Amino acid sequence: MPAATLTPARIQALAATYGTPLWVYDAATIRERIAALAAFDTIRFAQKACSNTHILRLMREQGVKVDAVSRGEILRALAAGFVAGGEPSEIVFTADLFDHATLATVVEHGIPVNAGSIDMLHQLGKASPGHKVWLRINPGFGHGHSNKTNTGGEHSKHGIWHTELLDALAAVRAHGLTLVGLHMHIGSGVDYGHLSEVCGAMVGLVKQAHAAGHDLHAISSGGGLSTPYREGEASVDTAHYFGLWDAARKQAEALLGHALALEIEPGRYLVAESGVLITEVRATKDAGSNHFVLVDAGFSELMRPAMYGAYHAMSLIPSDDSERPVRASVVAGPLCESGDVFTQGDGGVVEPRELPQAKVGDLLLIHDSGAYGASMSSNYNSRPLTAEVIVEGGSERLIRRRQTVEELLALENL
Ligand code: LLP
Repeated sequence: MPAATLTPARIQALAATYGTPLWVYDAATIRERIAALAAFDTIRFAQKACSNTHILRLMREQGVKVDAVSRGEILRALAAGFVAGGEPSEIVFTADLFDHATLATVVEHGIPVNAGSIDMLHQLGKASPGHKVWLRINPGFGHGHSNKTNTGGEHSKHGIWHTELLDALAAVRAHGLTLVGLHMHIGSGVDYGHLSEVCGAMVGLVKQAHAAGHDLHAISSGGGLSTPYREGEASVDTAHYFGLWDAARKQAEALLGHALALEIEPGRYLVAESGVLITEVRATKDAGSNHFVLVDAGFSELMRPAMYGAYHAMSLIPSDDSERPVRASVVAGPLCESGDVFTQGDGGVVEPRELPQAKVGDLLLIHDSGAYGASMSSNYNSRPLTAEVIVEGGSERLIRRRQTVEELLALENL
């Protein structure tokens, strides 16, 4: 988030008004990222990255469509004003299986399905002949910033295995389903070597579908655009990314003899850099050679470091003007778990971070946490979900109030 938007004084004011921990998003950053992808025919936001209905509404106002991966995400999209229908469809449901309630919801609202298994095609075909479908194909290879975010290859549960495309198309035909397009998402974290391979694989699949007598109206490049998390890392070159996919689209168009729409389905790219998690330092201590800075957010708020060893830049807003020499600090949270550490590498080894010496009462910001932050939060240790605020220039709005412990207990109060 640009420093000009969130000055230290403003952050202190936000923390004083709404309490900590607190998620803060910058609307202008989200709009900028949307504009950078304008060359694509359709931008479909993978809302799993940040599914607050106010963020979804902002996306819709900018012409962005939405992806949903659960019944809850479908209902969120509808609540945010997306409609079931439209061309291209405002909402698409992507999954590798249907639970019963989700299948019923998809059928009830006529929401196109991006199917990651042939069983989904059979179940949907029986329940709703003619329903619009995409096929999500696993091309046999993948890539990700962590093994846990690689969604291609034989170790991944995602997508229809590439050699089963013809079986999937036969199921589409047998059930009278309406084929919209082919989709691929090989993981999170773009690498251009893989990208040319993915584009090539997509053209090969279109060729097979065409040879089997199927027509298509769209292809989707999936998500996966990386964002800079470490100081000095470059942003993804969206023009280059579009260029590679546009060339693949043109090859596919030449095969089919008509125009094909090109979709992109980013999550992280649109929201990661817009978000910051504001925490307060509540204790400091030394343990042997390690200096610990304990803050009031844990992996119940931001799970990425504990789950993937993910790096997030941090900065300190001192509560007074005393001298703060740099100190190697292990930043950790309040949870009753040794892995509740924000400065750790893959494998859970603590990685002390050079930060100004922290004191109780200082604010510690965890940057670039707008994607897979609030949306991956949990109630672990019976911690209520954290409030969310969006800033628009000089004004701000609470877009989710803090959950209360009473609300948690109410679920069990049978
Ligand atoms: N489309 C599909 C089908 C996906 O499975 C995903 C992400 C996306 C799009 C969006 O990917 P993105 O553009 O955000 O990389 N929790 C992990 C990321 C898991 C991504 C799961 N699928 C993280 O915090 O890095």
